[in-house]
Amino acid sequence: MNGERAPIGVIGTGYVGLVTAVGFAGLGSDVWCVDIDEVKIAQLRRGEVPIYEPGLAEMIDRNRERLHFSTTLADAVERARLLFVCVGTPPTYAGDADLSAVLAVAGAMPASSEHALVMKSTVPCGTGRTLTRMLDEQGKGGLAYVSCPEFLKEGSAIQDFIHPDRVVIGEDEDGAHWAGDAVAALYEPLGAPIVRTDVASAEMIKLAANAFLATKISFINEIANVCEETGANVLEVARGVGLDARIGPRFLSAGIGYGGSCFTKDVSALKLLAANSGYHFQLLGAVIEVNELQKRRVIAKLSRRLGSLAGMRIGLLGLAFKPHTDDMRGASSLVLASRLEAEGAIVRAFDPVASEEARRIMPELDCAECLADAVKDADAVVLVTEWPEFLELDWTTVAAAMAGNVVIDGRNALDGDAVRAAGLVYEGIGVG
Ligand code: UDX
Repeated sequence: MNGERAPIGVIGTGYVGLVTAVGFAGLGSDVWCVDIDEVKIAQLRRGEVPIYEPGLAEMIDRNRERLHFSTTLADAVERARLLFVCVGTPPTYAGDADLSAVLAVAGAMPASSEHALVMKSTVPCGTGRTLTRMLDEQGKGGLAYVSCPEFLKEGSAIQDFIHPDRVVIGEDEDGAHWAGDAVAALYEPLGAPIVRTDVASAEMIKLAANAFLATKISFINEIANVCEETGANVLEVARGVGLDARIGPRFLSAGIGYGGSCFTKDVSALKLLAANSGYHFQLLGAVIEVNELQKRRVIAKLSRRLGSLAGMRIGLLGLAFKPHTDDMRGASSLVLASRLEAEGAIVRAFDPVASEEARRIMPELDCAECLADAVKDADAVVLVTEWPEFLELDWTTVAAAMAGNVVIDGRNALDGDAVRAAGLVYEGIGVG
């Protein structure tokens, strides 16, 4: 145990759990990480990191003596008062968040007024109240409950932990404030604004933040589509609009739609939460629909250039839902690849990190071992994920390898002039 900072427990060793664990270990806490997945815990004990996240392996290595991995909840409960719940809340078939893992953790907690559950998993607004009631009924009313939603982004999760825009700590009036104070003290060295609020508002802040960011993306995607009809350039429009301090420049990059587990899950979870409470959240319905259509717009662009896509060879550059991750959940590439195949195209994809995960999810997808294989003999190439290595491509070499000459930039990330200079036809999203 570290002399200065109290030990903590982290339950669930996915993206959020591992980043939270190494983040607090880096700040000096002993962290007891618990997961029911024995294989994962064995890997972590051996020093292997089960997910790809830049800087994570190094951070785990650097803080090895403060990180402990176990499959037994009691190992954390015996040593730590604060137990950060970081288990998955995947969508159910009905689109709501599946809370079974969260409920299992709460159910396994002992009756104790010495401990607090600190909820990091994204849960629907009202979950804290339901859990507190459930704990009461189980005779565990003394257990404190804090909502502390996580805002980290995959690919920059360590930096997001160290430099959060804010830390949100939700606690109810009848709760014991020692727990919220202790969580605030843990985050205090990071110097970020700390928002202390009630549990329901903390839960809603998380859902509303993700829904707003997704709305911003769908909005700029629709503006891009209108730019294509009117001759405006969405990059110029986003720059001019984003300089308005009330709007801000971030999350105004038009492209082939947002992906990832969080936006896709949380936007529909908030819409359903509203519906289940009797409110029809119209705006979010449009955000989701625009995003689904946006993933398919590349097909129309290719058809306009190539005619029928049957038998056409299409090279996809990138598969992950964004660069610097191997996460394929909700990736636009999955919709794009399967739509292309439905049109009879021959799809070959390359991703520097996510190919293995892509093969697992979509075994029929032809994943090239290297970039050269993905573009060889291609009639068209589509940039799907803006990995840095794709932005530095020598387009003359690519042009020589391709059979056709069409390059669709699904992220507006390539140098269009360089692509054109190689004799290729360049088309972005809303850039004319
Ligand atoms: C998101 C939230 O940003 C984070 O706060 C929350 O904790 C989890 O969900 P993440 O899914 O890791 O993080 O990635 P993010 O960087 O937000 O990107 C999500 C998707 O939106 C990606 O597919 C990305 O390519 C896309 N995107 C993002 C755009 O299409 N345009 C943009 O301007 C920004």
